[in-house]
Amino acid sequence: MSLPPKPASRPDRVSLWRYARLFRADILSAQPARLYRAWMAEFRTPFFRSYLMNQPDLIKTVLKDRPEDFPKSERIGEGLRPLLGNSVFLTNGETWKRQRRIIDPAFEGGRLRETFPAMWDAAEAAAARLAPHTDSVIEIEAETSHAAADVIFRTLFSIPIEHHLARDVFEEFKAYQRSQPLLNLAAFVPLPRWMPRFFRRGTKASAARIRRLITELTQGRMDEIAAGTAPDDLATKIMTTADPVTGARFDTEEMVDQVAIFFLAGHETSASALAWTLYLMATHPEWQDRLAAEAQVLEACDFAVMSKLRLSRDVFREALRLYPPVPMMVRENTCPERFRERDVKPGAQLVLSPWHLHRHERLWDNPDGFDPTRWGTENGQKCQREAYIPFSAGARVCTGAGFAMVEGPLILSRILRDYRVAAVPGKVPVPVAHLTVRSERGIWLRLTRR
Ligand code: HEM
Repeated sequence: MSLPPKPASRPDRVSLWRYARLFRADILSAQPARLYRAWMAEFRTPFFRSYLMNQPDLIKTVLKDRPEDFPKSERIGEGLRPLLGNSVFLTNGETWKRQRRIIDPAFEGGRLRETFPAMWDAAEAAAARLAPHTDSVIEIEAETSHAAADVIFRTLFSIPIEHHLARDVFEEFKAYQRSQPLLNLAAFVPLPRWMPRFFRRGTKASAARIRRLITELTQGRMDEIAAGTAPDDLATKIMTTADPVTGARFDTEEMVDQVAIFFLAGHETSASALAWTLYLMATHPEWQDRLAAEAQVLEACDFAVMSKLRLSRDVFREALRLYPPVPMMVRENTCPERFRERDVKPGAQLVLSPWHLHRHERLWDNPDGFDPTRWGTENGQKCQREAYIPFSAGARVCTGAGFAMVEGPLILSRILRDYRVAAVPGKVPVPVAHLTVRSERGIWLRLTRR
């Protein structure tokens, strides 16, 4: 069985200039192969120091034990701020804590059950949208993107993707992503303040248009809440939740910031994960058949079916290991630290890389292989606890993790219940990191009816 696609690594030593150029193209192939074996690696440049950390107890220190000492770097937000404003993804300290106190209750376990019918409808719609493509070759990322955007609008605002505002936001986001391919460079390599920023023309205008559309949705919901006619969905829940500490609610502006991040963080990531999972199913037909058989339980909309989609969950979890949609995260060091016999000064950038950690050769059995049964093994369970962070970990863990672990397996099973996917000869996808881990030239699959 051939291994799932992995990007080629760069040679061990390259000039800073070459590194920067590789980086602009793609942060995954810009890294040397030794990062799949190292516990920690230091990158020195004239402007900054950064440290990539793969050692589980160091990652635990940064994400779980002392997250306040390792905030998100102000500079990381620069590329995203025109779109995301003061969203929970970018803030730190007291503002971030207040925002999480208001947002978290909407994503609690019990609430997921109430959100489930909207996800179910989105999964049905996704399967129906594929029907005209039966017996042809399709680019599946476009389909999963559509499906994940639909999930967000249905769960957040009770509107399907066909609604004109939802469709316009979705289309504008596509334009935004095309105009912002340098995000990775700006986000990952903190540039000195005097260097020009890499905003492409159009990015800011695109961000402003997206925010105008989201403001319209949010304002409309404010009016419905005031009139007592608002549907009971995530937007209403978040907008009517008062911070238990200060009693304050989000005003329209701050809610727009949050909706923008829910849309961005919630649809790009899930779309990427689903597309890679479907590719893995195309290349592992025996697993595909098992999932299709399991998916027979999907008859009526009932949250209880989720407990029966165990194989689908294991497969989705394995896809998140091999292709973590958020390949790297960056934190800033605020106190002098000593990590692995090295002094790490305040201001240094700490890079946590799900991409490398999930394929670490000294931690995982068969690190580059696709094996959903690993979650039942001793090594798989240990690694799941210590070396598996597709949703990050600790206080800043993804708010949508539980949501995504329902949405992903549900849509996956729903599609495989009706369709068979097959790889297309000559079209092996190459993973590259855009906003999320995507395939360089799309993921192409042949679709037939089961
Ligand atoms: C497979 C799907 C998803 C993956 C892999 C994923 C992954 C992540 C990761 C790694 C982070 C941490 C980023 C960092 O610290 O730099 C994050 C944060 C976040 N995610 Fe997700 N996510 C997914 C789906 C979602 C969904 C569906 C939503 C909401 C509807 C969501 C909302 C958020 C928010 C609001 C944050 C910021 C949390 C904070 O900083 O306090 N995500 N996500």
